[in-house]
Amino acid sequence: MTMSLLVHFRNRLVLSAMAGINDHRFCSKFPVALAILGGFSADDKSMRAGMKVVKRGRKEFIFSNPLEGIRGEVVNLLSAFSGQFAINVRSFSDEGYIKAARLAAMYGGIVEINAHCRQPEFKEIGCGEELLRDTDRLSSIVERTSKVCITAVKIRGNVEGVRYRELISALKDAGCHIIHVDAMIPGGDADFELVRKVSSRIFTIGNNSVDGKAKARKMLDSGASLVSAARAVLRDENFFHTLLTDERLSGEVWLRVNV
Ligand SMILES: Cc1cc2nc3c(=O)[nH]c(=O)nc-3n(C[C@H](O)[C@H](O)[C@H](O)COP(=O)(O)O)c2cc1C
Repeated sequence: MTMSLLVHFRNRLVLSAMAGINDHRFCSKFPVALAILGGFSADDKSMRAGMKVVKRGRKEFIFSNPLEGIRGEVVNLLSAFSGQFAINVRSFSDEGYIKAARLAAMYGGIVEINAHCRQPEFKEIGCGEELLRDTDRLSSIVERTSKVCITAVKIRGNVEGVRYRELISALKDAGCHIIHVDAMIPGGDADFELVRKVSSRIFTIGNNSVDGKAKARKMLDSGASLVSAARAVLRDENFFHTLLTDERLSGEVWLRVNV
């Protein structure tokens, strides 16, 4: 017998992942429906790649025990934040994603598989955007995580050689519940056509260049159920508070999940 579970989002707003920035303290500041912790590295090899990234001046979360470090962030977030949460993860091994999914499940959260990162140190070991080029591997990871907890996949738009329609079909068939699409156009605005294409197939978080109510509403008009932002929040800590004064953006929404 198939049963449905409804996941409640109290409004349409999502804090998008920012490595080295989105810890529990940062995430708990915002009145969003979904706060995405991380991105985190979920196993030792991806953590070592993260250390190289730090050496050249970028921010990353570095933990001596990756999963314990993530667990600490989740536990601390739960005491200060009442919306839904996700953990954005990259991993060299498939097992890293599965362990992160089990951890998310234990605390009622969502795992977000990072098929988006384009830092060379991560791509070299098959993480991030490289997963978009290996649909079979990404699907097999999703097949396993989606049996454990609600699974989102963060994808980047307009990556050369990626056939988005086929990718979304494969991920949906594998059990993916949410696609978080960074609809970036190099040097341009967001690709709202891509958001439309993805959201016609699956529950979607629309992302890229949302800098105010008009762009956020345009994401919803393009079919996204939720709208995320990252850089705008760094510029203005009250960004989400301002968006919440809009009636549509402050309205709740549910994700139906078959279990
Ligand atoms: C400093 C910084 C760190 C980021 N780290 C991650 C990450 O770890 N994982 C991820 O999926 N996206 C990461 N992103 C991408 C954002 O989540 C978002 O997709 C991107 O910035 C586009 O959205 P925006 O126009 O609202 O900033 C990062 C972005 C920034 C600015």
